[in-house]
Amino acid sequence: MSRDTLTVIDNRTGCSYELPVVQGTVKAMDLRQIKAGEDDFGLMSYDPGLTNTASAKSAITFIDGDQGVLRYRGYPIEQLAANSTYLETAYLVIFGELPTPEQLTQWEWNISHHGMLHVNIQHLIEAFRYNAHPMSVFISATASLSTLYPDARKVQDPVNRRLQAERMLAKAATIAAFTYRHNQGWPCNFPDDGLSFIGNFLKMMFRMTEVHYQPNPILERALNVLFILHADHEQNCGTNAMRVIGSSQADPYSALAGAAAALYGPLHGAANEAVLRMLEQIGTPGNVPAFLEKVKNGEGERLMGFGHRVYKNYDPRCRIIKKTAEEVFQVTGRNPLLDVALELERIALQDDYFISRKLYPNVDFYSGLIYRAMNLPASMFTVMFAVPRTCGWVAHWMELMEDPEQKISRPRQIYTGAPPRDCGPRNQRAAATYNV
Ligand code: CMC
Repeated sequence: MSRDTLTVIDNRTGCSYELPVVQGTVKAMDLRQIKAGEDDFGLMSYDPGLTNTASAKSAITFIDGDQGVLRYRGYPIEQLAANSTYLETAYLVIFGELPTPEQLTQWEWNISHHGMLHVNIQHLIEAFRYNAHPMSVFISATASLSTLYPDARKVQDPVNRRLQAERMLAKAATIAAFTYRHNQGWPCNFPDDGLSFIGNFLKMMFRMTEVHYQPNPILERALNVLFILHADHEQNCGTNAMRVIGSSQADPYSALAGAAAALYGPLHGAANEAVLRMLEQIGTPGNVPAFLEKVKNGEGERLMGFGHRVYKNYDPRCRIIKKTAEEVFQVTGRNPLLDVALELERIALQDDYFISRKLYPNVDFYSGLIYRAMNLPASMFTVMFAVPRTCGWVAHWMELMEDPEQKISRPRQIYTGAPPRDCGPRNQRAAATYNV
C-alpha cells in the first residue's frame, strides 16, 4: 500500500526511519533524529546555493522551469502582460487578487501620493559623485528611507506594513529617476500625479524643457510590459535576501536595500548590463561564432543573459520582451545590436554545448536593448529592474510577516576549519601563508 512517507535506512547503524512527505518535500528537521551514535548532532542536509531546498511556502508566483511557465497568483504572465498595467499587476502580486475598478483607483492614488521624496534623500543622492554606479546610489537611498520612517520598524502591525509597502513601491521609482538625473547632471523632475505610474516615471526620467511633458504611448505601454515581467520571480537571490533580512524583523527599507544589493550582482539582475557590454564587445553578427567558441572553451566570460537556475526551457518573459523590443524600435529606431543578439540566440540554440546544458536566453538577454534604445546608459539597466522587482520584494516580505511557520533565517554549516589549538605569545607565532 502506498504511503506519503520516505523510509530511510542508515547504513551506519542499520536503523530505519519513516519521514513524512508533504507537498513533495521532507522536512530538513526530520533528518535530525538520524544519528550515528549518542553524541552525534544528527543528520543535516548540505545544499550550497539552496538548489534543492524550499525555504518558504509561497502563494505568489508559480514557475514550471521545464515547461517555461510563469504565473502570478495563477494568472499566466502572457495574459497579464497583454491585459494589465504594472500597478494592477503589483496589486495582484501583493494582495492576491486583481483590483476592482474602485480598488484600482484608490491604489493608483495611494501610490502617486507616496511618490514624493523627502529632500534629505534627494540631497543624499546628489552627494554622490556624478559617476557613482546608479545601483550603488539606489541601494544607499532605499536603505536611507528607514531614517525618515522609523514607524517602519513596527513590522508586526499589518496596517503599518501596508503603508510601508505603498511607500516602497512609489519611492523606488522616484529614487531611480533622481539617481538617473544626477548621473546625467540634470535637475530632478518631481512626480506628477496627473499621469499614470509609468507615464510619471517616464516624465521624472526624461522631461527636459517641455512644459507639458506627454509620455509616448508606445514607450509607456512597453515599460508597463517590462515592469510586469520583472515584478516577481519567486525565491530568486534578491527575494531570498529580502526574506532573510526581513526574518530578523528588521525594517523593510533595510531589507529592500539588501535585496537590491543582491540584484546588483552580474549573475542576477546586473546580467542585463553585462549583456549589453558583451553585445558591444562582439560588435557584429559575423563575430558571434568566434565569441561563442571562447565561451564554450571557458576562455572568456559566460554567455550573459543565457541560462537560469529554474528555467530549463525558453524563459517565457524573453519571448514577450523580444516582441516588445520590436515595438519600441518602431519609435526609437532599430538598435543594430539586436542583430548580434538574434545571431547569438540562433547559433547558441543549435549548439550542443547550450542544448545539453539546457541554456536558453533569459529575461536579461533582450531587456537591455530596449533600455539602450530609450537612451539609458548600461549602468542604469539594473535600476530599471529593481524598480518593478520592488513589487515582488514587498509581496514576499508581507507574506513572510504573515506566515506563522517562518522563523529567523539561520542556516547550519559544515565546519572545515582548524581543530582546537592554543593561542601563544605573539613572538612565538609562526608566519602564516595565505593563498592570495
Ligand atoms: N554561458 C555559458 N555556460 C553556462 C552559462 C552561460 N550563461 N550558464 C551556465 N553555464 C554552464 C555552466 O558552465 C555549467 O557547465 P558545466 O556543467 O560544464 O560546469 C552548467 O551550464 C550549469 O551552470 P551552473 O552555473 O551550475 O548553473 P546555475 O543554475 O548555478 O546558474 C546562472 C544559473 C543564471 C547563474 C547561470 O546560468 C549564469 O551565470 N548565466 C549568466 C548570467 C545571467 O544571465 N544571469 C541572469 C539570470 S536570469 C535573471 C536574474 O536572475 O536576474
